[in-house]
Amino acid sequence: MQPDEGSLGFDTMSFRHLPEVMAIEQRAYPWPWTEGMFVDSLRNGHWCYLARRGQQVLGYAILSLAVGDCHLLNLCIDPAQQGRGYGSRLLQYAIRQVTEQGACDLFLEVRVSNKAAMALYTSQGFQQVGRRRDYYPAGEAREDALVYHRVLTPPSCSRT
Ligand SMILES: CC(C)(COP(=O)(O)OP(=O)(O)OC[C@H]1O[C@@H](n2cnc3c(N)ncnc32)[C@H](O)[C@@H]1OP(=O)(O)O)[C@@H](O)C(=O)NCCC(=O)NCCS
Repeated sequence: MQPDEGSLGFDTMSFRHLPEVMAIEQRAYPWPWTEGMFVDSLRNGHWCYLARRGQQVLGYAILSLAVGDCHLLNLCIDPAQQGRGYGSRLLQYAIRQVTEQGACDLFLEVRVSNKAAMALYTSQGFQQVGRRRDYYPAGEAREDALVYHRVLTPPSCSRT
């Protein structure tokens, strides 16, 4: 896959972006976040970023940060725009932002069936550090999550 530079830009998500974000979320996930979950993230001061081309929203990343520990809660690219390097560019942008905010460690969960996301995280320096049984809904059943971790290196982190 070749990254498509185009006029890719990054921005902070706000409430006015919710209609486009929800449309992408519902196209991209079999079990999408509700609008209330995005509203809670925005209200709770989570770090919410957009990838966009002009006014078109291509995808988004939602992260929470508490005392150096950061959690990637959602990373999503519009299915029509996947495979063009946008997911990795958005993840790199989000990592730069939270590192500047003092994040020392970044954690995330991913469905065991989500091979594309696992390949992306591995290529971005994440390592699998755990597994959560029956973490996600999956129709009648549940699906395990794999937990991934990456060390970030802002100057404020002391690892003694
Ligand atoms: C996971 C996701 C964000 C990747 O975004 P993307 O823009 O398609 O990914 P990129 O084009 O930046 O690809 C980056 C790397 O991801 C991996 N990857 C992406 N799509 C893949 C696919 N279909 N199969 C295998 N690996 C894939 C590759 O390692 C790729 O690196 P390469 O280009 O050097 O091969 C996107 O597929 C998505 O939004 N999926 C639905 C939502 C989701 O599952 N989010 C993750 C929740 S944990």
